[in-house]
This record gives sequence, C-alpha cells and structure tokens, in this order.
Amino acid sequence: MFDALSQKLKLIQEEAFKELSSLAISPAINEKNLEELKIRYLGRNGKLTEVLKDIGGLSEEDRPKIGQQANGIKKTLSEKINSLLYSLKEEGQKKEFQKMCDTSLPSRTLDIGKRHPLIQTMEEISHIFSRYGFQVAEGPEIETDYYNFEALNIPKHHPARDMQDTFYISEDVVLRTHTSPVQIHVMEKFKPPLRIIVPGVVYRHDDDTSHSPMFHQIEGLLVDREVSFAHLKGILTYFVHEIFSSKTKVRFRPSFFPFTEPSAELDIECVLCNGKGCSVCKNSGWLEVAGCGMVHPKVFEAVNYDPQIFSGFAFGMGIERITMLRYGIDNIKLFFENDLRFLRQF
Ligand code: DAH
Repeated sequence: MFDALSQKLKLIQEEAFKELSSLAISPAINEKNLEELKIRYLGRNGKLTEVLKDIGGLSEEDRPKIGQQANGIKKTLSEKINSLLYSLKEEGQKKEFQKMCDTSLPSRTLDIGKRHPLIQTMEEISHIFSRYGFQVAEGPEIETDYYNFEALNIPKHHPARDMQDTFYISEDVVLRTHTSPVQIHVMEKFKPPLRIIVPGVVYRHDDDTSHSPMFHQIEGLLVDREVSFAHLKGILTYFVHEIFSSKTKVRFRPSFFPFTEPSAELDIECVLCNGKGCSVCKNSGWLEVAGCGMVHPKVFEAVNYDPQIFSGFAFGMGIERITMLRYGIDNIKLFFENDLRFLRQF
C-alpha cells in the first residue's frame, strides 16, 4: 500500500513537472494556463489531493512519510509555478511600459537661453577695455538736469541741448539721454586716477530704422596726470582693431561736444564696402562710431578735480550701431522684437 502510494506520487510529480516544463517554453504560456495547471495538481480536487485521500489506509508510521513526500512535491511545484507567474507579470509590465513610452524616440532637446546680441557686444566691449584696466561702472537711468546736462557743461538754453531729443519727466528730471552723466557720479565719489567703462540704457525721442527711443551706449573715461590726446587715439584705435578687425582703418575728425575740448568723432573705414562708398556710409567710405575728446576743464571743476593737475579723455558710442555694423543688420527694430529666428543667429 505504501509503495503503491509513493509510486503514484512520483508519477504525479513527473507528470506535473513535464507539463510545467513544456508550458514554460511554449509561447502560449500565460497566467491563466499556469493557474489552471496549479489547480489541476494542487487544488482541492487536484491530482495530489486525490492520492492523499487514500492515506487513511496506511499504518501510523507510513502516514507521515507519504505526507512528507506529498508536501515536498507541493512545495517545489508551487515555487516553480509562482516564479513563472512572477516573471510573466514582470514581462507584461515591461510591455505595457513600452506601449506607453516609445524608448526608441530621440530625447527632447533642452532650449538653452543665450545672451542678447546687444548684451554680447556690450560685454565684449567692456572686456576689451578691461585689459587696459578699465572697470565697469553704472548709474541711474532717471537723471536730474544737473547730471545729464549742467555738470557736463551744457547749461540751460545752450544750443547743444537740441542735439539730444530729451524725454522730460519734469522740468528738472529726465530720462538720461546718454551715459555721460555717470562720469560725474563716479568722479564725485572717487579721486583720480580712474579708468571706467559705463554700459547702459539711454532714451531719446527719435524713431526710425537706425534710431530707437530706447537704446544702449557705452561710455569711457580715463583721468590721470599727463593724459594726452595721443593716449585717447591709441586706446580707441586698439579698440576698433579688437572689435572689428586689425585691418580696419580709423580716423579722428574734429567735432564738438560741450564736455570735451578738443572733441573728435571717431570714424572707421566702412566695413560694408571697405571704403569704396555704399548706401550705409552714404558714399563717404567712412562710418561714425564714437564721440570722444579731452575732458573739459569745466567738467573737472564741477567735480572738484583740479584741471591744472589732472587731465583725461572720454568717449561714448552706441551699442546698437556697433552691433549693426558688425553683423550687417539694417534695421534697429530687429533687436527689440524678440523674434527667435533673428536672435538665434548670434
Ligand atoms: N554723450 C555723447 C552722445 O551721447 C557721446 C560722447 C561724445 C560721449 C564725446 C563722450 C564724449 O564721453 O567725450 O552723443
């Protein structure tokens, strides 16, 4: 009786494992047929349970032996089935994930922000002057008449005020028309020697393809003992060669600014036609890029610098103009429209 039962169990074990192994490698395997197999062998009316029904006919000592054998089969069989079920579930989840998310698609690129071309030019210019020891200074965009005009030797009713189309906030307060007032702020605070470069926003009511009511300037000021016009020419020529090209020709043309004496206009050979004459240089072959000159003694007096001891030079230029010439841009409005197709080119 014992041997017969034990033999039956062995046969059931063999049969179950055979069935399980062929199911495991079959493409038809799924959770449902695995569960069915489990029930068929280990369920309440399963084959194993069926055999154990005869256990009552065994002797006291044989009973636990058969019980042990049956439990062993039950344990290994259910372990195998459970592990197959587990990997099936895992597989299913992977497939589900792949359906939701196409891992073969290229990843999204990050849009990285860039500096605006005007800011780039401003930083480049500041950097060029920094090699000569110039430090960046800043000042307010809303100015009093005193800083914007008076201290720069432009008294009330002076015809030079007409050169700048001023936005008045009140009789005495203006939107600065140039970066020159920062010269005054800095000289009031610091004693010479000094070398500063002042990038900033300025305002004038002027509006066409080459003028914008809000634009950018960069101002330079150097004050020391025995500064001459030759120093000014040297520094500005170096600047032109750095920002345009080492072959760009320069010329200093006599001009007038109330805050400098003598004053000059810095011209460069037209970078678009190489001096031959075109619509941009109005057929002159030259382009105006900066105003400059030796600081007027009246300006030094306004900040309590002794013009007998100190001399200096100053210059100012438009950032938009320099940027337009460098890149051949023909409309100033392009800088302010935030059109990415334009901005991405820099
Ligand atoms: N502030 C002048 C303007 O906006 C430009 C300028 C000319 C600045 C000569 C200077 C200078 O410092 O020396 O037109």
